[in-house]
Amino acid sequence: MTTTNPKPRVLSGMRSTGKLHLGNYVGALENWVKLQDSGKYDCFFFIADWHALTTDYADTARVKENSLEVALDWLAAGLDPEKSVLFIQSHVPQHAELFLLFSMITPLGWLERVPTYKEQRDNIQDKDLGTYGFLGYPLLQAADILIYGVPGVADPAKDHPLYVPVGEDQVAHIELTREVARRFNNFYPLPKRTYVFPEPQNLLTSSPKLPGTDGRKMSKSYNNTIQLSEPPESIRAKLKTMVTDPARVRRTDPGDPDKCPVGDLHKIFSSKETLAKVYEGCRSAGIGCIECKGWAADALVAKLAPIQERRRKYETNPKAAWDILEAGTRKAQAAAETTMEHVRDAMHMSKKFEAPSQAAATDKK
Ligand code: TRP
Ligand code: SF4
Repeated sequence: MTTTNPKPRVLSGMRSTGKLHLGNYVGALENWVKLQDSGKYDCFFFIADWHALTTDYADTARVKENSLEVALDWLAAGLDPEKSVLFIQSHVPQHAELFLLFSMITPLGWLERVPTYKEQRDNIQDKDLGTYGFLGYPLLQAADILIYGVPGVADPAKDHPLYVPVGEDQVAHIELTREVARRFNNFYPLPKRTYVFPEPQNLLTSSPKLPGTDGRKMSKSYNNTIQLSEPPESIRAKLKTMVTDPARVRRTDPGDPDKCPVGDLHKIFSSKETLAKVYEGCRSAGIGCIECKGWAADALVAKLAPIQERRRKYETNPKAAWDILEAGTRKAQAAAETTMEHVRDAMHMSKKFEAPSQAAATDKK
């Protein structure tokens, strides 16, 4: 039952939050594009609109639009439908079927113990996260991942590796996914000592810390982002008000780029020459912050120019982006359905007719 496809799979998802920001790019997307372009993997990337609902369920007016915006940013950033399967989670209902089956075998304690669960439920005040769906968030993620494992493995820890590129914050979710895979394989082995699910592995991306305009981690919920589609004038304006090394109060005070969020931007986006000028000028008070921020803005604008140019092409024809997602959906559904057939078989729930076995027949007496 093993397939002959030699390439390991890569699978990852991003919640449909609307227009993406630089943090999404540096933290995930840029790496996904590299994995895709390496040609070493069979890549699946999807927009997790159901996961967006776990927190934003009360008003769904913009879910679809938000998914489309993410797709535009993905294509702009270089995800390529010729090389990767791109799709929307809710268009592949097999994820939901697997999630339901997993919910039967997953002890509540496993979900309650996920570190982000309690923390977010208590910290996010403006909505009620005491829902079943929010508790199930990581289990839905487990279904998202495992459904793209090539089923029928002899050694779940080694065969048909399934890689999940995610950041540090998702490590606990991948660990849970591995536990769910083991539990499922253990309850429902396939014939001939094979198993439905491989155990996925984390492809940790060591992304540089990307500060937002207020110096905290760039995040939509902090309102401190620079979007991938941010116009150059707006980038410049945002950088002008960006926080700097607090020790540099006056123009004559020396500063330290290692203690300055603008310095962090330079480290990620500026050339070596510019970076050298920043260190030298900042520490000697030879340059002003306004000048330094101008250079950072130049670097950002240059970095984003090709991305924004590609985005404009799709913005004028968003239907093309939607069609790409639909084509991806068909491929994803085929892969997901293959797994589900194995899942249903292993659980004795396939749609094929089977005559009752001797044991079942005697039970009925
Ligand atoms: N939870 C992930 C995040 O917030 C998004 C996600 C959903 C995901 N399903 C996934 C990531 C499956 C990797 C694999 O970033
Ligand atoms: Fe930050 Fe640049 Fe000002 Fe130094 S000169 S404090 S690196 S903005």
